[in-house]
Amino acid sequence: METTVIKPQSPLYAVVTGANKGIGLTVRHLAQRGVSVVLAARDPALGVAAAESLRRDFGLENVVSHQLDVRDPSSVETLARFVEGRFGKLDILVNNAGASGLVVDEEKLRDLNIDPQVWLSGQAVDIIQECVKQTYDGGVTCIDTNYYGCKRVIEALLPLLKLSSSGARIVNVSSLRSELKRIPGEKIRNELNDIENLNEDRIENLLKRFLEDLKEGKLESGGWSMMLPSYSISKQVLNAYTRVLAKRYPKMYINCVHPGFVKTDINWNTGVITPEEGAQGPVMLALLPDGGPSGCYFDQTNKAEF
Ligand SMILES: NC(=O)c1ccc[n+]([C@@H]2O[C@H](COP(=O)([O-])OP(=O)(O)OC[C@H]3O[C@@H](n4cnc5c(N)ncnc54)[C@H](OP(=O)(O)O)[C@@H]3O)[C@@H](O)[C@H]2O)c1
Repeated sequence: METTVIKPQSPLYAVVTGANKGIGLTVRHLAQRGVSVVLAARDPALGVAAAESLRRDFGLENVVSHQLDVRDPSSVETLARFVEGRFGKLDILVNNAGASGLVVDEEKLRDLNIDPQVWLSGQAVDIIQECVKQTYDGGVTCIDTNYYGCKRVIEALLPLLKLSSSGARIVNVSSLRSELKRIPGEKIRNELNDIENLNEDRIENLLKRFLEDLKEGKLESGGWSMMLPSYSISKQVLNAYTRVLAKRYPKMYINCVHPGFVKTDINWNTGVITPEEGAQGPVMLALLPDGGPSGCYFDQTNKAEF
């Protein structure tokens, strides 16, 4: 399904997380459509530099940078107070910040020269064993960034999102690795697809089980995805959380999106499309027309199966 993007008629206010690089380019597209955007970056100097280059190279005065480490509750709270003081409400939140949680020998990975199709299908799992390592600490970082980080930001900004007059748009940047069909364990698949009964407690119990199995070397027997394990579960639960929220806040438009296999740092530049192309899905969902979809998963700009 293709959904059209509209240009806002009245002023809109947005926050994009992890916006200093890569798919964070979403900021530019929103600003070029007249949205006032907070470019949130973990490293404040990188945020200032990114906003400055948008001002210098594209004449965009409607972008302001602000520090945000999604793992740090006080940083999240400070951002929320900044948005409240500056805009008084929030119309669009793009949760783009993400971490792989993997330890990678990039040179070895480059030498393997893996076919993108093999990589995307998940069949590279055995080939990359030598150069892509999943540690327990990496798993914790990944889940704390991609799921809990996103949840922290949403919860802190929710009071402001509720003030958006035509229903706030929340876009959770997910991944192809999130798709339920890629999870070997049927029980895990069913739990994450049980929308009637799903809630944060159930999601977080599942994450605890994942981390226990990771610690004890039982991921395969536990039925978890073996291709980028912590990254996969972090995005699988992000999708589940998206559906929980969409059900809870029917006036908002809350969706998740796989941006495509984009050449950025998070995949050690193995991707095949540009950040420009990767930003298209998030931008489309950030600017959904009234009455558009909610609680859905998109593969780039097309609605897809969870
Ligand atoms: N590239 C792909 O093919 C692909 C595919 C599927 C999904 N995605 C998703 O797309 C999103 C953007 O990734 P990307 O491809 O643009 O990669 P990227 O260029 O590496 O960007 C990742 C961004 O997340 C930020 N970040 C990481 N940890 C953070 C934290 N604790 N607090 C705040 N910001 C943090 C990074 O900040 P620093 O610069 O400070 O590290 C950076 O700005 C991620 O959610 C990723 O999972 C990407």
